[in-house]
Amino acid sequence: MMNEEQVLAPAAAGDEPEIDRQLRPRRLEEFVGQEQVREQLAILIDAARSRGEPIEHLLLSGPPGLGKTTLANIVAAETGVNLRVTSGPAIEFQGALASLLTSLGEGDVLFIDEVHRLQRVVEESLYPAMEEFSFDFVSGKGVGAQALRISLQRFTVIGATTMVGMISAPLRDRFGATFRLEFYTKEELATIVKRSAGLLQVPIDDEAVVLLAARSRGTPRVANRLLRRLRDYAQVRGDGTVSRELAQEALRLLEVDEQGLDASDRRLLRLICEQFGGGPVGLGTLGAALAEEPHSIEEVLEPYLIQLGLLARTPRGRVATGSAYRHLGLAVPADAPGAVLAQAADLFVGED
Ligand SMILES: Nc1ncnc2c1ncn2[C@@H]1O[C@H](COP(=O)(O)OP(=O)(O)OP(=O)(O)O)[C@@H](O)[C@H]1O
Ligand SMILES: [Mg+2]
Repeated sequence: MMNEEQVLAPAAAGDEPEIDRQLRPRRLEEFVGQEQVREQLAILIDAARSRGEPIEHLLLSGPPGLGKTTLANIVAAETGVNLRVTSGPAIEFQGALASLLTSLGEGDVLFIDEVHRLQRVVEESLYPAMEEFSFDFVSGKGVGAQALRISLQRFTVIGATTMVGMISAPLRDRFGATFRLEFYTKEELATIVKRSAGLLQVPIDDEAVVLLAARSRGTPRVANRLLRRLRDYAQVRGDGTVSRELAQEALRLLEVDEQGLDASDRRLLRLICEQFGGGPVGLGTLGAALAEEPHSIEEVLEPYLIQLGLLARTPRGRVATGSAYRHLGLAVPADAPGAVLAQAADLFVGED
């Protein structure tokens, strides 16, 4: 299973796959936060177990690093079945899907990461597989061609996507349940940081835990990555313990600010504010100006900036809000969205 994950998982699935695996919760009860998702999954798992049936097909969506792969692993572990890992782009043709599907045992989970990137023909042959556990294909060519149908074991597809809007309606309809993962609260992230610090044996003060949790972009993967950076910093510059002061110093060095934005977040905001008059500006234009893939701006950078109210998506393009100007220390233009609020906030800061 590990090997398959290494071979088949695309680079985009995780920037630090090794540490992700090491710190990944194995059981539902170890999974922090996402209360509603956890509760509904617990019910699905129990119900399937008591009927002795495979669990329904599940679709997990949400920004990178929030726990989609983790939950897929947990579902397989909790139901005691095997997990096969693949991804949309990795299934290049119908035959590749056929060989994956025929290798599954009764009840096994097929985890399809980036399920919004399935090729159309592959996606279409997945429909009958998900619905009727059968795979249709044409053998031979021309007049001798024959339509054949293989029947499959009953299995479960768990699809994961950072772009739920890109999933076609017919595919979406074939999932029995869809779960959307949200950014984590600071309290939840603090719990995750403590758990990871325990596993990695990093001595860390409570105040440093709180600081780190607040600067992790609402994302467990970011929290774990920053924790490792702080551990390095504490070993090299300190006595090995991550204190509040040390965490502050290290995060300054890493250019992670009070809201958890890093240099690429600020570069994006600054570009919109300074080069494009606050927007609206199209994603393609931003991608070209930053030399980044538009889809990675959209999937990785934007969701958190939108959540913080620094960026807005409009039909004509991306717009920086008054808070974005304020966050960058720029004068807030009167016509920026939310300018009045951002200016009012400035006044309050001035009064302190
Ligand atoms: N609820 C959680 N509790 C504790 N740790 C978590 C939780 N969710 C995620 N993590 C940690 O964050 C890491 C990243 O999570 P995961 O790989 O599941 O994200 P993902 O949603 O699949 O991301 P991507 O879209 O990039 O594939 C995990 O390895 C795990 O260590
Ligand atoms: Mg993943």
